[in-house]
Amino acid sequence: MFRKITTLVATAAVSAMILTGAAIADPVTIKFSHVVAENTPKGQMANKFKDLVAERLGGKVVVEVFPNSQLFGDNKVLEAMLLGDVQMGAPSLSKFSRYTKKLQIYDLPFLFKDMKAVDTFQQSEKGQELLTSLEKKGLVGLGYLHNGMKQLSSSKELHVPADANGLKFRIMTSEVLAAQFQAVNATPLKKPFSEVFTLLQTKAIDGQENTWSNIYSKKFFEVQPYITESNHGLLDYMVVTSKEFWYGLPDDVRTEVKKALDDAILFGNQVAAQKATDDRQKIVDSKRSQIITLDDAERAQWVEVMKPVWKKFEHEIGKDMIDAAYASNK
Ligand code: LMR
Repeated sequence: MFRKITTLVATAAVSAMILTGAAIADPVTIKFSHVVAENTPKGQMANKFKDLVAERLGGKVVVEVFPNSQLFGDNKVLEAMLLGDVQMGAPSLSKFSRYTKKLQIYDLPFLFKDMKAVDTFQQSEKGQELLTSLEKKGLVGLGYLHNGMKQLSSSKELHVPADANGLKFRIMTSEVLAAQFQAVNATPLKKPFSEVFTLLQTKAIDGQENTWSNIYSKKFFEVQPYITESNHGLLDYMVVTSKEFWYGLPDDVRTEVKKALDDAILFGNQVAAQKATDDRQKIVDSKRSQIITLDDAERAQWVEVMKPVWKKFEHEIGKDMIDAAYASNK
């Protein structure tokens, strides 16, 4: 009897240690893995987070940042996170479809007219609700981070949808993005970010869609003679961690880490806004790629052919969600 009670007490003590985080490593290491260059909104945010944690949490927590797909590509990082091989990442919202269909909303073409509308929606109740859409899969959404609106780069001038007919475009792993390019009779190819430059350079693909900062930092503009300033879609991120890691941290540490992350995200969002203008200008100045702007009639054609994609995914995303996001444009 006595032995039984001793065993029970010991088991309870171990469980309590795990629950309070007392059994965690000292210092705690947060490996933050991402795929972009350091001189991008995400790269700068991650480095800022590392610095803030070092400043505020000294020897208790250490952040190690792995940029440029050094550790994991986006198609592997979430799996690695669930296995505990990496603790944080910030894949683009387009890369979560294996875990939830709800986030597909962010890929719908021409849903948000600008980043102000994106912000309004993300901070709304519905936008915040989407941060919890991964919990059943063991992941915790810690916050949104901006990159910006996507542009279409190509080996051919793209003014109207018919110009994209028959061309091959690299896309992220998203069915919505596939449908978007199929809507203009183009061929979408799901490929990792790390392969895009070579695919463009060797002409294995004709084009791709991305933000000004990604087109600039990964030198896509050097191998793409035309960029259509379409602002047709969004490329934003969700900073994620695993439930197991996050709730294994002691409460006070978790609170401080979250504060550092929130501050780093605010900084990253400022970088994103600045880079959308600055990196665009650097591409103009390079004269390597011609920027094509659309007049109202041309833009209306892209909207007309791509917008039916919304209906196709309404049953997975929810009409109320799409309506709320669209309403944020007002
Ligand atoms: C892409 O694959 O094009 C982007 O998700 C890269 C990134 O993280 O910005």
